[in-house]
Amino acid sequence: MKKLRVCPKSAIEYDFWNVSRAGNGYIGGFPKGLLARIKEKGWIKGDVVVNLFGGFVGKKHPDWLNVDINKWVYPTIIADSHHSPLKNEIADTIILDPPYDDPTTRFTGAALYGVKPLSVIGVLKEAIRIAKAGTYIILLHFLVPPAPKIVKRIAVIAVWQGPNHRIRALSVYRKNGISENTEQTKLLEADKKDIP
Ligand SMILES: C[S@@+](CC[C@H](N)C(=O)[O-])C[C@H]1O[C@@H](n2cnc3c(N)ncnc32)[C@H](O)[C@@H]1O
Repeated sequence: MKKLRVCPKSAIEYDFWNVSRAGNGYIGGFPKGLLARIKEKGWIKGDVVVNLFGGFVGKKHPDWLNVDINKWVYPTIIADSHHSPLKNEIADTIILDPPYDDPTTRFTGAALYGVKPLSVIGVLKEAIRIAKAGTYIILLHFLVPPAPKIVKRIAVIAVWQGPNHRIRALSVYRKNGISENTEQTKLLEADKKDIP
């Protein structure tokens, strides 16, 4: 008798979340309930939570390290998140909600926040540099960037706020838990010097 071929189950979680339309009052702010849902999954953990594109998140989470290039949101740290002043491997969780430089929409980073176009892979690498081993890195964007070797892709979740809203992707990565990461993190630090 022919043996059935069983495909191994993918280790990556794929899902679709229908979230509430109401945000936190900031243009481009997280939809209501999104952070709670991410927390339920257990991806936000530890004492040092770094939010690299602060916005109004700091209002609800003043205990997080909220980094933003614009001082009008009163971030913990005012900095360009391509080159944050944070040291290597200090974060237990990292959240990234960068602007979308999609030329087909008027809601660009330049129009909304007066910022230059962003390198999504650049800020992802910066997040990986400051992440401790085992840290979850959570990115909300329309692109799903490739996973550098030093992380594993954990989940890709389509996030939809309702009609007239673009579907975005929540990408969740986890930094590998091996000690060689320290060396690889230093390489990333050197590598990011090429990012504009
Ligand atoms: C989509 S909003 C984030 C909204 C936030 N998640 C919230 O719920 O309020 C993007 C934020 O990133 C900031 N920003 C844009 N480019 C940046 C950069 N290169 N470095 C740091 N912050 C940046 C903007 O000022 C804006 O506050």
